[in-house]
Amino acid sequence: MIMIVNLSCYMKYNKVLITGGLGFLGYHCVERWLEDDCEITVVDNLSSNAVNKDNLIYDQVSVIEDNILNLDVKDFSKFDIILHLASPVGPVGVLKHSGTMGKTIIDTTQWAIDVSRKNKMPLIYISTSEIYGYREQKTKLKETDDKILHGDFTVRNEYSISKLLAEIIIKNNSKIDKDFKFQIIRPFNVTGKYQLPDGGFVLPRFVNQALNDEDITVYYDGSQLRAFTWVKDIVEGIYLTTKASEEYWNEIWNIGNENNEKSIKYLAEKVIGYTKSNSKIVSVDPVEIHGELFAEAPEKIPDSTKIRSFLNWEPKKSADEVVLEVVNYFEGITNK
Ligand SMILES: NC(=O)c1ccc[n+]([C@@H]2O[C@H](COP(=O)([O-])OP(=O)(O)OC[C@H]3O[C@@H](n4cnc5c(N)ncnc54)[C@H](O)[C@@H]3O)[C@@H](O)[C@H]2O)c1
Repeated sequence: MIMIVNLSCYMKYNKVLITGGLGFLGYHCVERWLEDDCEITVVDNLSSNAVNKDNLIYDQVSVIEDNILNLDVKDFSKFDIILHLASPVGPVGVLKHSGTMGKTIIDTTQWAIDVSRKNKMPLIYISTSEIYGYREQKTKLKETDDKILHGDFTVRNEYSISKLLAEIIIKNNSKIDKDFKFQIIRPFNVTGKYQLPDGGFVLPRFVNQALNDEDITVYYDGSQLRAFTWVKDIVEGIYLTTKASEEYWNEIWNIGNENNEKSIKYLAEKVIGYTKSNSKIVSVDPVEIHGELFAEAPEKIPDSTKIRSFLNWEPKKSADEVVLEVVNYFEGITNK
């Protein structure tokens, strides 16, 4: 009997390029690829970085502090793979990019495609679950589901539609260039250590409010549902897509933990419990805080069957464990 072993799943990338590698997700990617003893180059323009260059004290990591659009794609010929994460992000973080973000997302994605195609290395594109748009009723979202745009055009739409257009452009490049290899990742509600409250991310905001005994401000009645997914579970999913065998390339992958579905109010209560804070939970209108450009996120629950069944992805942390990690992280910073 002849046994066929598919060796491509053991593919090793020695030189890894990570755009946005000083960001929250990007930095966790750096940590994951360091486990493989890769040489890593990070490009980051420090526009919304979660960590500083000083955090990357490893010999195998070098950092270019610049906008990727200032850099010549030909200078990246030595890399084996590019992970493209650099982007405006966050429900509040995107507001200052109103009217210019569409062009930024497309230009930066085109830069990543050019790096990939010109230098013949696979592109891992970090998209977003926001591309699914709105549902009237709670739905577990599959990769092939319709993308629904309804209502007024919001800044949130500028973000989500540009990320979707970036996906379409990537896919269509593969139709004209058979050598172009990509994976598109749609993370759902990522949270964990190093995430900052600045971009409007709910868990670090609640934890900081609780540690300062301030009111925990829940938008509207707090019944909105989210599938909070531990950042290292997301990164492991991204990593698995890079190790996939040939038939699982040029694919789109949801990564999100549907078992972690919780309401925002539940999250606030957990934060108070873990921090033993005297904070009160109060309901607020986010538009009064952030202005007319702000739009609350639609409910987004993933169907992650595809990555679970084809790449054996299995998330490790429950929502409560992730809340505890973020509490411990900010308590550690506060007590320094
Ligand atoms: N955080 C989430 O919940 C989430 C969910 C889904 C998708 N994503 C996607 O994941 C990616 C990373 O998000 P994050 O939460 O880590 O955000 P982040 O803001 O922490 O990281 C993005 C990094 O990219 C850098 N950057 C932005 N534009 C740049 C440019 N032109 N050149 C060089 N560097 C640039 C920023 O300084 C920052 O360090 C984004 O593409 C985002 O759309 C995030």
